[in-house]
Amino acid sequence: MSSGLRRKLTSYGDQGFSLFLRKAFIKAMGYSDDALDRPIVGIANTYSDFNPCHGNVPQLIEAAKRGVMLAGAMPMVFPTISIHESFASPTSMYLRNLMAMETEEMIRAQPMDAVILIGGCDKTLPAQIMAAASSEIPAIFLPTGPMAVGHHKGERLGACTDCRRFWGRFRAGEIDEAEITDVNNKLASSIGTCTVMGTASTMANLTEVMGLCLPRAGSAPAAESERVRLAEETGRVAAGLAANPDAPIVRDILTPAAIRNGLVALQAMGGSTNAVVHLAAITGRLGIRLDMAELDRLGKVIPLLVDLQPSGQHYMEQFHEAGGVQTLLKAVRHEIDGSQQTVHGKTIGEVIDAAPDEPGQTIIRTIEKPLKPIGTIAVLHGNLAPRGAVIKQSAASKDLLQHEGRAVVFDSIEDMTLRIDSDDLDVSADDILVLRNAGPKGAPGMPEAGYLPIPRKLARQGVKDMVRISDARMSGTAFGTIVLHIAPEATAGGPLAIVKTGDRIRLDVKERRIDLAIDQPEFDRRMAELGEISAAKPVRGYAKLYHTRVLQADEGADFDFLQHEELERK
Ligand code: FES
Repeated sequence: MSSGLRRKLTSYGDQGFSLFLRKAFIKAMGYSDDALDRPIVGIANTYSDFNPCHGNVPQLIEAAKRGVMLAGAMPMVFPTISIHESFASPTSMYLRNLMAMETEEMIRAQPMDAVILIGGCDKTLPAQIMAAASSEIPAIFLPTGPMAVGHHKGERLGACTDCRRFWGRFRAGEIDEAEITDVNNKLASSIGTCTVMGTASTMANLTEVMGLCLPRAGSAPAAESERVRLAEETGRVAAGLAANPDAPIVRDILTPAAIRNGLVALQAMGGSTNAVVHLAAITGRLGIRLDMAELDRLGKVIPLLVDLQPSGQHYMEQFHEAGGVQTLLKAVRHEIDGSQQTVHGKTIGEVIDAAPDEPGQTIIRTIEKPLKPIGTIAVLHGNLAPRGAVIKQSAASKDLLQHEGRAVVFDSIEDMTLRIDSDDLDVSADDILVLRNAGPKGAPGMPEAGYLPIPRKLARQGVKDMVRISDARMSGTAFGTIVLHIAPEATAGGPLAIVKTGDRIRLDVKERRIDLAIDQPEFDRRMAELGEISAAKPVRGYAKLYHTRVLQADEGADFDFLQHEELERK
């Protein structure tokens, strides 16, 4: 395979002419022949005025370019889609696959010997890892890093667990308009990703655990100089990858053992349930089914170790000060396969062994003295979830983990929005709120609507948590006794579609069950009568592609044609 500017020539029939033309055009930018003869490192630019989580990307790009050039290669920056959680309608997840496709094709189409992928906000790193897993060149990732914490009346504030906490207090009438406006000014106090253990922090940490970025790059704060130095070093490493024809590609690094290391860390850190969907999509690109049974088993033997919101008290800057991923992996070393290679050349075992001691830190606990005795995520099955569901048990109410209640069903997000705050809603704190048609096809895009608000009339009575179940996702920054990702979704004919208000539902996290408590003949009769689901079918464009080709949550909600061709369909 040719390298540098000679790679992937545009097809004009005459290769010499293709190169001649390419050089003629690029010289318009003032490049010399010496520069154009170097190995090329592509750098994906995800800066956008709509994406404050990527506000430091220009500075990171400058530093990465410096590192590439100091190591003798040529950096070439190219734009890709950028997605921010609050600026993507109907939901960012709907666009994740589009970003993955676009990034993959831009890596494939343009001449680069290695690529640096700078991502951070929830869907961006997953999309970029999916893209790179389907690509044939080496890739190194550079998370943008978490934002700084804010302060309000002597309390620390972190986006976005505290966004939800304060909004809940406002809904319940505990704080007034002036105070919620004041909090709004302080919640996101710098550029960077949400500073709790939400999806962005989880995916950045997993990127480090699975060996796809430099040590400490998962957690270094967005606004600190260390993040910029890491960008420069990322550039140097990328230059080395670009110059080495035998450098590992993502597929070489993301082995089943490396992915299992990720699952260990996910359970120990209080990571987001969204990571389960993203990891399933990433492994699908590699021809590997995410081992949900192993994820669940690990949840029984790896307790929650990290004291970060929403499962604990603190924020990402404290996690980083405590040693970040390296300290975490030290604590679960017995479950980690240390022989796994990383993109920077060391094994993950060598990275762990090089971790300095952090005496006195209390943020990352030990197996002997965990924050909570249970792992983060439990995988549920039952007649309501034949292909599975998940619950973040570490952020749930202990007394609701075994609960039977009366179903109060919402047929869609719109239905829920219209009725949830009505004083006429027949609901009590012991009921189970059911939201359906909010999965990959149903919503579409499987939005983070699984965190159903506590009905206003109950919130006013002081109810803080209820069992809520859905085929939607939930923000990694949210908390509560919430069953998510029920598969198949109602819109795809899953049993969630047959639940009626007034039915009894049993949640038993200890037994890993979620069941509709009706007798089997009645269950079968309702399923037989279900027939064709009448979801709106888009007629054109990306919406049509999404609706017709998106897979269920247990397959990562990727498009079927993007998964590895050897993966068997469910
Ligand atoms: Fe971007 Fe939370 S909104 S990471």
